[in-house]
Amino acid sequence: MLRSALLNVMIKAARKASRTLKRDFGELEHLQVSLKGPANFVTAADRRAEEIVREELEQARPGYTFVGEEGGVREGSDKTHRWIVDPIDGTMNFLHGIPHFAISIALERDGTIVAGLVYNPATDEMFTAERGKGAFLNDQRLRVAGRRRIGDAVVACALPHPSRGDVELARNEHIAVQNKVAGLRRFGAAALDLAWVAAGRVDAYWERCLSPWDMAGGIALVREAGGFVTDLDGREDMIKTGGILAANEDIHRELLRTLKDAHKTTSTASPTPA
Ligand code: IPD
Ligand code: CA
Ligand code: CA
Repeated sequence: MLRSALLNVMIKAARKASRTLKRDFGELEHLQVSLKGPANFVTAADRRAEEIVREELEQARPGYTFVGEEGGVREGSDKTHRWIVDPIDGTMNFLHGIPHFAISIALERDGTIVAGLVYNPATDEMFTAERGKGAFLNDQRLRVAGRRRIGDAVVACALPHPSRGDVELARNEHIAVQNKVAGLRRFGAAALDLAWVAAGRVDAYWERCLSPWDMAGGIALVREAGGFVTDLDGREDMIKTGGILAANEDIHRELLRTLKDAHKTTSTASPTPA
């Protein structure tokens, strides 16, 4: 398969960082019993992976602005391009030895996401998309699931920690959606939730309070796989609001209505992203 120079740059950076991540993931089982526990180790793994991605991307595209979860914003001389990177999405899974985590890389041009990559090193699944050129899992073209009936849908979601203050809203949403769909799932890595919507493995996914690096790469995948992505008001302000709903057109419409109804019956307000 012939890939663009841009995707090749992103793939090279993800593969390079994944080599250290895989090694670190393999080390974790020895650390579970250590005095400090594995948390510090994972923080170091996270930072190391982001550094590698940043260095690779900077070398290939000097001047682009870089936003990473670990290192924050590094302004570049080129104000039109911005990388958005999460070195490990699904940290809790990584920490617990669950092979469901990913590196996520997106490129924005003038505020529009033009390319996305989500790579799970544990399964070697490389999801990529470029605006107008389709979404792929390795070399295979992706298409969102075609199910039209909400009652047949399997839907990925989040389980926010009670300390976040929106437990009532989350529970109301879960009950409302659960009453309509075939099944709910909580996988624990937003970037992969979106990649799996793009791949048609789940019919939909919603979450609130996400950060740009959790979703930017996955948004490109879902759109290029023919899916609908909006925030939880039905607008395209996902990055600003932190809320996201992704699905095919029919399931998206039905779920948006269901989530809005759940919101109306909730007394506590939803928090804004950190
Ligand atoms: C988290 C994961 C998780 C989502 C959280 C995110 P992290 O990212 O994507 O699935 O529910 O809101 O913060 O911390 O593992 O990079
Ligand atoms: Ca994340
Ligand atoms: Ca992360």
